[in-house]
Amino acid sequence: MSTHRVLLLTTAHSYRNEPFQRAAGRLDIEVILGIDAVQPPVRVQPGRLALDFNRVGAAASAIVEFAHTHSLDAILAADDSGVVLAAEAAGRLGLVHNSPQAAQAARDKYVMRSLMAAAGVPCPWFRTFSTADDLESVAASVPYPCVVKPLNLNASRGVMRADGRCELVAAIQRLARILDAAGVDDDTGSAHRAHPFLVEAFIPGIEVALEGILDDGELTVLALFDKPDPLDGPFFEETIYVTPSRLPDDVQAAIAASAGQAARAIGLRTGPIHAELRVNENGPWLLEVAGRSIGGLCGQTLRFEMDMSLEELILRQACGLPWRGVRRNAQATGVMMIPIPEAGILREVEGLDAAAAVPGVENVEITAARHHTLLPLPEGDSYLGFIFARGETPAAVERALRAAHKQLRFHIVPEFIIMQGPAAS
Ligand SMILES: Nc1ncnc2c1ncn2[C@@H]1O[C@H](COP(=O)(O)OP(=O)(O)OP(=O)(O)O)[C@@H](O)[C@H]1O
Ligand SMILES: [Mg+2]
Repeated sequence: MSTHRVLLLTTAHSYRNEPFQRAAGRLDIEVILGIDAVQPPVRVQPGRLALDFNRVGAAASAIVEFAHTHSLDAILAADDSGVVLAAEAAGRLGLVHNSPQAAQAARDKYVMRSLMAAAGVPCPWFRTFSTADDLESVAASVPYPCVVKPLNLNASRGVMRADGRCELVAAIQRLARILDAAGVDDDTGSAHRAHPFLVEAFIPGIEVALEGILDDGELTVLALFDKPDPLDGPFFEETIYVTPSRLPDDVQAAIAASAGQAARAIGLRTGPIHAELRVNENGPWLLEVAGRSIGGLCGQTLRFEMDMSLEELILRQACGLPWRGVRRNAQATGVMMIPIPEAGILREVEGLDAAAAVPGVENVEITAARHHTLLPLPEGDSYLGFIFARGETPAAVERALRAAHKQLRFHIVPEFIIMQGPAAS
């Protein structure tokens, strides 16, 4: 009989389920998977609940009912899709939680920007528009270079840089097609409709990602990742993350302070956060703060004392078990999210053994399915896979990741319909 029970809001095939379940096993915590399902089936597997995350009220009621017979210590969200429901249901059950408004704000880039700017967090110029607006007027009213982005997609999907008016108009038209295809905000069923989006001033500089845990509003930094590949656009493909950061200590402290300030501005007070910032001669600038931990398989890079994982620390904090002061392992670690080089069907990947044999490389995992369509940015939102490395220094880890990537050959064949390019309709 486990001493604690946690509901993890997730998706059926999330990469995060297994790491959370493994960590829970070490802690004698029972993890119930709350699986997002548009039409929750009547019968689900034991240890699982089917919930429609978009119908927050009904799903929260189902969780409360479940908790009558299975008391819960905490409700966690594995990714952005579950954060609002986690906050709502935890609130109803009297568990420690973020307010649903804060969880919602962290998912909406416009609300998030507004709250951060109002609190004096360093942010770029920003304004929201609609794809139904007169695009020439939009283009005449923003600074350049700028970045156009959707309000609530992930993985840099739909995020584009524009250096001038024509580029911006083309980028907005392209974003409108991406949002039509994604079916977001779509309750009308019509193929083309008005979508809100954001334009921000482009912030030059280097980029970092901060992984942390909030406890009663206080931020503990678990890791700061450098992103050594330049992210200057026109699309913003994430590739390499390496920790510890090579930035000077005072810059790292300023980054942590800004991330904490941003989380407070949004209203986040508890649980994991994943913040992204840019840094230039004017200091750190907030890109965003999400009320969840790092996505995909990237959490695997982090190992703490006594072989604790990121998921174990998150579970410990959620259940009131000791977690403070746990130190990250001294070795440098990193991950490369393998970019999709072109659109088409992935036939085969060669060089996996050679890549895995590169000194320092721990694992090479191809997550894209063979014989399925690959969609690069800005339309796509996935990677070919992940390379993990470990070493004495961040520079050695970065070298190992690049060397392993060079060994890989991707055979991608064209598809009949390529959903890409400004000329498509
Ligand atoms: N104002 C900006 N100035 C410069 N670069 C930007 C700006 N906004 C976004 N970017 C770039 O685009 C990337 C994706 O933007 P953003 O984080 O807002 O979107 P996202 O889709 O939510 O990404 P993620 O899945 O990482 O959360 C950023 O990591 C950054 O490289
Ligand atoms: Mg982001």
